[in-house]
Amino acid sequence: MTHTLSDGTVLPDVGFGTYPLKGEDGVAAVVSALEVGYRYLDTAVNYENETEVGQALQRSGLPREDVLLATKIPGRFHEQGLALQSLRDSAARLGVERIDVGLIHWPNPSREKYVQAWRALVQAQAEGLVTHIGVSNFTAAHLDRIIDETGVTPALNQIELHPRFAQAEMRAANAERGILTQAWSPLGKREAPFDESAVRAAAERLEVTPAQVLLRWHLQVGSMPLPKSATPERQLSNLDVSTFELTAAEVEAISALSRPDGRLFDGDPDTHEEM
Ligand SMILES: NC(=O)c1ccc[n+]([C@@H]2O[C@H](COP(=O)([O-])OP(=O)(O)OC[C@H]3O[C@@H](n4cnc5c(N)ncnc54)[C@H](OP(=O)(O)O)[C@@H]3O)[C@@H](O)[C@H]2O)c1
Repeated sequence: MTHTLSDGTVLPDVGFGTYPLKGEDGVAAVVSALEVGYRYLDTAVNYENETEVGQALQRSGLPREDVLLATKIPGRFHEQGLALQSLRDSAARLGVERIDVGLIHWPNPSREKYVQAWRALVQAQAEGLVTHIGVSNFTAAHLDRIIDETGVTPALNQIELHPRFAQAEMRAANAERGILTQAWSPLGKREAPFDESAVRAAAERLEVTPAQVLLRWHLQVGSMPLPKSATPERQLSNLDVSTFELTAAEVEAISALSRPDGRLFDGDPDTHEEM
């Protein structure tokens, strides 16, 4: 079960979230993630750890082309020239010539500049600085605006998605436009529903951990999860989700944990400001 972008590129089942891994411990955690098998690393300018992520890639000894690096343009750099410079600076901090996946971190709609950031990504792709371009935290209206104004559809949209906020409508909106859904906080972070009976029952039946059940749920609803863990054992088990399958009833029972107010914080893309 893999994720395919509209241009045919296949991404790994599960990517690795790198926030808030920083400093020497952060480098070690990302090296460990690469050692246990992750091949897609998610970072952002605002995580202030692109240098660490680049160092980890170096230290792992893996060939550059074996690992996909994704980073994000912050709100303060949405103006087109600043956005392009942000991508160049990210590449420099990561220590690479080319960013594999470039995203707009949040739309910050009150600032009215996300279309400019999107134009910068389109330009960066044309110049070969970024291979795949996408967005994060975009609603259907934000997606339609950038598509209408530029004629270019994002390859993926990274959104808050976990069983307590299952985003069925947004997943459908992405799919209708040929956009891959990626999930941030895929376990639900501190609100992870590990003890919910729907999760426990599936974990017991399959003899896997509750976290593995949740990550498998993502794959079966068509979402690419980006779990973060600083712990090598958890990193490994979070990646090991392709050898078992949830029943349709189990997927439904886990999806039923979703609530309209299930966001982890007040991260409504229409109002959240993240600069
Ligand atoms: N685009 C955006 O706006 C946005 C926003 C938020 C996050 N993100 C991205 O999404 C990534 C993941 O999100 P997140 O870190 O907020 O949430 P998460 O991955 O759902 O949860 C991470 C937490 O779960 C724990 N954990 C991981 N695996 C576990 C397991 N098998 N059993 C028990 N606990 C486990 C981790 O602790 P240990 O480390 O101690 O294992 C950590 O405390 C971030 O790193 C970042 O890359 C993007």
